[in-house]
Amino acid sequence: MTAQLLTTLSSETNLAKLPNHVAVIMDGNGRWAKQRGLPRIEGHRRGANTLKEMLRYCKDLGIKTLTAYAFSTENWGRPTGEVNFLMGLFERLLQKELKEMEAEEVCINFIGDLSPLPVSLQQEMRHSMERTQDNQGVFFNVAINYGSRHEMIGACQAIAEKVQKGELTASEIDESTISQHLYTSASPDPDLLIRTSGEMRLSNFLLWQLAYTEIYVTDTLWPDFNLEQFDRAIESFQQRDRRFGKVKQ
Ligand code: IPE
Ligand code: IPE
Ligand code: MG
Repeated sequence: MTAQLLTTLSSETNLAKLPNHVAVIMDGNGRWAKQRGLPRIEGHRRGANTLKEMLRYCKDLGIKTLTAYAFSTENWGRPTGEVNFLMGLFERLLQKELKEMEAEEVCINFIGDLSPLPVSLQQEMRHSMERTQDNQGVFFNVAINYGSRHEMIGACQAIAEKVQKGELTASEIDESTISQHLYTSASPDPDLLIRTSGEMRLSNFLLWQLAYTEIYVTDTLWPDFNLEQFDRAIESFQQRDRRFGKVKQ
């Protein structure tokens, strides 16, 4: 499997210059379904396959972390039927895929405020995190009920409490203090952000963590995003000159 997948990356691609952490805004499921005269939920169902393929590919290439935006704090505003379908889909997928994730050495982690989610889904999430916590093959962060502003408010509150208790002084707060209080504290910042379906916005995703991330937007709708297109995103990343505010040497 590995050798076959690696050949899909073009020969000029330097496998040593891969992004270490890829984040993805999986957008366009609804439009994909609409184009085919199908209900929106069909797009979500198909989108799950894309994510599965992408995760396996990351593992085979040696991309250490994949972070996927699955449900935002704003997505609760969608029709109840769609929200309920998504919650059910997440739960079914976890039940179905856990064995394979264990075999593939996937370490799954959920980022977001999990407390408003259905209890049975929360249980499934906790179970899958526990079962895969020691795996080192690929780190897979799934953002569910995730909102960057909500995350930052939580971080501010936790830090303020520490200051109040005298565990920290205000002047000691630095970038690493903030990073350590975010859901993503265990992961380095993403190197590459991919957004499908053409929207040029972040939609409240990882606003702190994406400060110096390279952004790649494709018009392809998420269910149609395939490994060849992922290669293209990686190749684009490899051609970028990441200056981090400095002058090129
Ligand atoms: C992304 O696809 C999936 C979620 C936000 C859950 P959309 O459902 O946003 O698809 P479009 O943008 O309406 O096409
Ligand atoms: C972003 O997509 C959220 C996810 C992919 C989970 P949306 O479809 O919710 O974003 P907007 O509404 O186009 O900004
Ligand atoms: Mg959308």
